Amino acid sequence: MSIRTYGDEVLRRPAMEVDAIDRRVKDECTKMVEEMLRANGVGIAAPQVGISKRIFILDVDERFQVLINPEIVEVSEDAEEIDEACLSLPGISGPVVRKKWVRVRGLDLDGRPVEVEGEGLLARAIQHEMDHLDGILFIDHLSPARRSSLLKELRRQERAEA
Ligand code: NI
Repeated sequence: MSIRTYGDEVLRRPAMEVDAIDRRVKDECTKMVEEMLRANGVGIAAPQVGISKRIFILDVDERFQVLINPEIVEVSEDAEEIDEACLSLPGISGPVVRKKWVRVRGLDLDGRPVEVEGEGLLARAIQHEMDHLDGILFIDHLSPARRSSLLKELRRQERAEA
């Protein structure tokens, strides 16, 4: 398993709710953690490893959390625009407006309800990973002109690596 990149259709598919947290789901979470750590990410969503399920993992500052079937339940009115990147869009970044503070609710690996709330990078990571579960990538939030120039840059880097 490795990280799926732009152009892979699994990244565009709305992910399915998890109905049972069984051995298989736990194994999939382990693989997600491995890929996230290998790539030095602050978060990863299941579709990024080819699994179309509503699961993401956060690893921001001291906060490590698996969230299954997450829902954002509260957001601040205030928003801020900060450069954002994504493991599935390697080598590019762009300014995305996100809520400054959010609260997300989901289940942990034992099926217990869990809430995470925070601001700054944590809030941004939560919103970014939630988007992945709906097939949305950070570039979708940019202007068409900026998006197309970033995608051009992405293709240029892919050619350089090939
Ligand atoms: Ni991402």
